[in-house]
Amino acid sequence: MKEFNQKVAVITGAGGGIGRELSLQLARQGCDLALADISEENVTETQRQAQQLGVKASIHLVDVGDAEAYQAFVAEVIDSHGKVNLLFNNAGITLQRSFENHSIEDWDLVLRVNLWGVIHGCKFFLPHLKAADEAHIVNLSSMAGFLGLPNQASYSSTKAAVRMLSETLATELARFNIGVTSVHPGAIATNMIRNTLDRADDQAKAKKTLETVEKMAMPVEKAASTILTAVNNKSFRVRIGKDSVLLDLLKRWMPVMLHKLIIHKMSGAKRAVAQS
Ligand SMILES: NC(=O)c1ccc[n+]([C@@H]2O[C@H](COP(=O)([O-])OP(=O)(O)OC[C@H]3O[C@@H](n4cnc5c(N)ncnc54)[C@H](O)[C@@H]3O)[C@@H](O)[C@H]2O)c1
Repeated sequence: MKEFNQKVAVITGAGGGIGRELSLQLARQGCDLALADISEENVTETQRQAQQLGVKASIHLVDVGDAEAYQAFVAEVIDSHGKVNLLFNNAGITLQRSFENHSIEDWDLVLRVNLWGVIHGCKFFLPHLKAADEAHIVNLSSMAGFLGLPNQASYSSTKAAVRMLSETLATELARFNIGVTSVHPGAIATNMIRNTLDRADDQAKAKKTLETVEKMAMPVEKAASTILTAVNNKSFRVRIGKDSVLLDLLKRWMPVMLHKLIIHKMSGAKRAVAQS
């Protein structure tokens, strides 16, 4: 899609981070917005900033994991905007917990938001995307969609599933002229990981991860503009950040060795804790 002017974009998780930045960059290019989030305060702030840029921006309080609420949201968007050209399945959460410490409720929560949220978006907006003169779906996976990261079992599983869903959709929807982009960011400077701190099973480890991630994180503005360029170019896949590119390459060049290295690093850390 070359132009966003006079298009309508749906963005889930628009209350902060990548979702807010995508919304504002689209607004600067004249795109009307349907902004969805569970946080009324945060999504209202995104709406305020977008409206200042002169576009129409509706807000929708919806938990993307709730199928019934999602269908009501789709009806609201069509009522308000009449069409949908772009769907950004962006809302996502993570948890820093070992598999052993993941409860079934933890799994349920992460699967609902990160996987069912994307499935609901693709399923319930599909008839409207088919009806549009130009349409594109953007699914936020992660570099965790390339590799099962330690303490991220639910997150990595959902992001790998989103990657596969995007591959299937890209092949099935091409005949309707609907583009699909699978997005694989590395560390991006948002509050996503900071927000998980209080739910982490190992606070010290989680704080250390946060520090490392914050040191290397890419500014959210650059991440969002890279995603929009990928939509302009109809790219099927976009890796964001050197960390994501490197991990993808390592995983493909030396899949077994990479896992051995991670296991070695993890067991080294465990030994150090046992000796302290
Ligand atoms: N930040 C990173 O380093 C990073 C890396 C890789 C992938 N991603 C992915 O990018 C996407 C955006 O992440 P972010 O860093 O901007 O996160 P963020 O935490 O800054 O923002 C996520 C937004 O989603 C909203 N949200 C959470 N649960 C929701 C639900 N059930 N329904 C609707 N909205 C909900 C939150 O209120 C928040 O406004 C996510 O899918 C994430 O997995 C982020």
